Amino acid sequence: MTKTERDKAIEAAEYIRMRVGPVPIHVGVVLGSGLGTLAEGLSNAQIIPYTDIPHFGASTVPGHVGRLVLGKMGRTTACIMQGRLHYYEGYSLAQITLPIRAMRQLGIDTLIITNAAGGIRADLQPGHLMLIIDHLNLVGMAGHNPLRGPNDDRLGPRFPSMTRAYDPDLAAIARQVARERGIPLSEGVYAMVAGPNFETPAEVRYLRLIGADAVGMSTVPEVLVARHGGMRVLGFSLISNVAVDTLPGAAPEKTPEASHEEVLDVGIKAAPMLASLIQGVIERIT
Ligand code: HPA
Repeated sequence: MTKTERDKAIEAAEYIRMRVGPVPIHVGVVLGSGLGTLAEGLSNAQIIPYTDIPHFGASTVPGHVGRLVLGKMGRTTACIMQGRLHYYEGYSLAQITLPIRAMRQLGIDTLIITNAAGGIRADLQPGHLMLIIDHLNLVGMAGHNPLRGPNDDRLGPRFPSMTRAYDPDLAAIARQVARERGIPLSEGVYAMVAGPNFETPAEVRYLRLIGADAVGMSTVPEVLVARHGGMRVLGFSLISNVAVDTLPGAAPEKTPEASHEEVLDVGIKAAPMLASLIQGVIERIT
């Protein structure tokens, strides 16, 4: 018999549990492009490569290490994904979100999710942190949704609400921690596109028009699955580049271009600030 997504998540969770033992694990963290440093601060960390875990795919993108790091943070054990899978790599949305379902099976009820994103709103410049207050699921609205297909009621409801996809209480804690630690924190709406190409200037203009403040190629499928499973979600975008909206011909010699190298470079520089913010939030909620 073919395994369901729930069967696979349970097998993955059982393997992780076997490796870490019966410690309480309440918080999961997904670290995006170049943002892996949070995991390096953990003491007595257990490191599990994705390739060891049943049904986990291997990350193929530079800047995504592809391992799970479990270690003590605050009064809980945090389960940190150092690198994620993306739709543009060719994985199905079910594969991308399997780690989130496995986290749920481990007992994790709070997900902190991060990404690198292009800044669309003028004040969102490279190096800025943006608290995600809502999202635009362009991939999902086009019919590609990890919750498509028969619903397993043991995982969550058929029609989950996304009115408060990003938890207002966690957002309030994040604002407070940012203030206390002197970390500038913007807020905005994240739009997911499929990638892997960066947007054309006309697409950036379109995204601004429909209410996007930042654009990226991840996060939304994981958030949908987390909310479906009843997890609370806190999300941050690190603005790694300006999403260019200058049409060709307007000022060709001045038009900058987005690149993955820039995304990684900004990520590496800003990672300690984001790590401090996440650490502060985890200490506050456990
Ligand atoms: N567009 C889409 N995804 C991204 C970008 C961008 O400009 N920067 C980082 N991820």
